[in-house]
Amino acid sequence: MMSVSSGSERHRSHRLLDIRAHDTPDDLWMVIHNKVYNVSSFVSEHPGGVEVLFDCGGVDATEGFDDVGHSERAVMMLEPYYIGDVAPEDQKRGSSLRSSAQSREPSEGTEKTVGKQIKENVHNFVGPNLALLLFAALAISSLVLYLGLQRTKLPR
Ligand code: HEM
Repeated sequence: MMSVSSGSERHRSHRLLDIRAHDTPDDLWMVIHNKVYNVSSFVSEHPGGVEVLFDCGGVDATEGFDDVGHSERAVMMLEPYYIGDVAPEDQKRGSSLRSSAQSREPSEGTEKTVGKQIKENVHNFVGPNLALLLFAALAISSLVLYLGLQRTKLPR
């Protein structure tokens, strides 16, 4: 298939329609954060198995790649397979490659990011207030015990 070419051989611009044609084990391309990778020679080395990569042949694998929580090392491993960018007219907004495996663009707001945020908020709340909660629990149980003892001591 013909791809729209611009710049050097390695910095081509590929239309999604052209990328889609490369979906066989011997000729496997995929899109991650609007960048196109020819991973044909990497497939058999993938620690996560070959099947997941075959499933992403010729399509945008950004979501699958991110959902696994690939390490910084995995992101670096992509580099040699880079063959160009998705043509500007086909690019997904807010899908530029993150600088590190952990950091995300704040505007992305995916379910995973929101979930993580809630978890962090709960953690931030419980952490400093744990001593206060324990103290309150101790005070209440002491009061209950005290009142209970008072009752048993009362003359009939
Ligand atoms: C072609 C680009 C990819 C590269 C270079 C890559 C690299 C890696 C590496 C190095 C690991 C080991 C764990 C780590 O260091 O993060 C891994 C694990 C894994 N990858 Fe990928 N991966 C790629 C694409 C994908 C895609 C597109 C998917 C799924 C849609 C995927 C699914 C997985 C799974 C399920 C594991 C196993 C995670 C585990 O055992 O906890 N990978 N990958």
